[in-house]
Amino acid sequence: MKKVLITGSAGFIGYHLTKELLDNYLIVGIDNLNAYYDIGLKRDRLKNVGLNIDEASSESIKSKKYDNLYFEKIDLIDKKSLSILFENHKFDYVINLAAQAGVRYSIDFPQTYLDSNITGFLNILELCKTFKIKHLLYASSSSVYGLNNLFPFSESQPVSHPISLYAATKRSNELMAHTYSHLFNIRTTGLRFFTVYGPWGRPDMALFKFTNSILSGKKIDVYNNGKMTRDFTYVKDIVISIAKLIESDAPRLVNKNDININKFSCPNEIFNIASNDPVQLDDFIEIIEKRLGKKAKINYMPLQPGDVPATFANVDELISKIKFSPKTKIKEGVNFFIDWYLKYYNYGQD
Ligand SMILES: NC(=O)c1ccc[n+]([C@@H]2O[C@H](COP(=O)([O-])OP(=O)(O)OC[C@H]3O[C@@H](n4cnc5c(N)ncnc54)[C@H](O)[C@@H]3O)[C@@H](O)[C@H]2O)c1
Repeated sequence: MKKVLITGSAGFIGYHLTKELLDNYLIVGIDNLNAYYDIGLKRDRLKNVGLNIDEASSESIKSKKYDNLYFEKIDLIDKKSLSILFENHKFDYVINLAAQAGVRYSIDFPQTYLDSNITGFLNILELCKTFKIKHLLYASSSSVYGLNNLFPFSESQPVSHPISLYAATKRSNELMAHTYSHLFNIRTTGLRFFTVYGPWGRPDMALFKFTNSILSGKKIDVYNNGKMTRDFTYVKDIVISIAKLIESDAPRLVNKNDININKFSCPNEIFNIASNDPVQLDDFIEIIEKRLGKKAKINYMPLQPGDVPATFANVDELISKIKFSPKTKIKEGVNFFIDWYLKYYNYGQD
């Protein structure tokens, strides 16, 4: 079996990706299990795939459910431990999902973004170079489109106006990856995820927060007075797309000396991964209310610094590359999330 390293494997997308790849790869997951949100949720995700991690342990552990799954608690900024990991495993592919996520948090805690998203990512690039990794795929974000207002966003648009440090670090990752692809011929693929949602989701994101508040009768903060749209993308569609991209054909390169054509002068690509179906925030709330059978109490707020009012992606590049695009409809996906939420938090049980 080919070997894949998934960083951030205790995270929301990392957990789903682990499950998606288990049939075809030997997987090593790493995560620093930081306290940005409930560590219990991260540990439960790991437990669900047979990884019972002891808080203090930094040893590699083997899944009790799957023979081809391992986990180690490692921080991306710990280059020494990362180097040993790469040396021990000789990975074929690396998928870097570990990062400090969240737009609003980056305004108050900028340093953690620099550490995990820039220094950490540099460590990954360096090790991919040293260990001649066949393909590095890494999480970017729709937030790189910043103040762009030409909808739908396509990968060919300039992205020079990020409005949060989070977005700036994700755009920096794309530029760093391009540089390493060019200098060292490493195949790199940037994944611009658009508002990912689904079971085992993140407590800092709207669907989780709204569900929690509606159930407990608390008010929900709705920004830009509700005039927001998001191209919500169901997590299963995200991980299917990643799985298809791993061993997809490498881009055909043009002559490096032809300065007029620089698109594929090195094996570096970037894809929007999104539903291509933006949803108004008001409609989104209504879907949640209907499923919960309870009305939300709404606290309308202005647009928050760092937030963009709308996202909407063109996914033609993704479709032409992997013949697949996200298709889960918002109502269906929200229902899957709420089913999980009610069960996980024991609603309706004594
Ligand atoms: N969820 C979304 O809507 C969305 C949208 C765009 C981009 N992304 C990106 O996708 C990736 C995964 O996002 P997610 O929603 O699963 O977030 P998540 O926070 O649930 O997962 C990230 C995981 O990385 C780990 N981590 C953070 N810093 C680390 C470090 N220095 N070393 C090791 N582990 C570290 C965290 O503990 C966490 O478990 C992130 O890079 C995020 O920025 C997510």
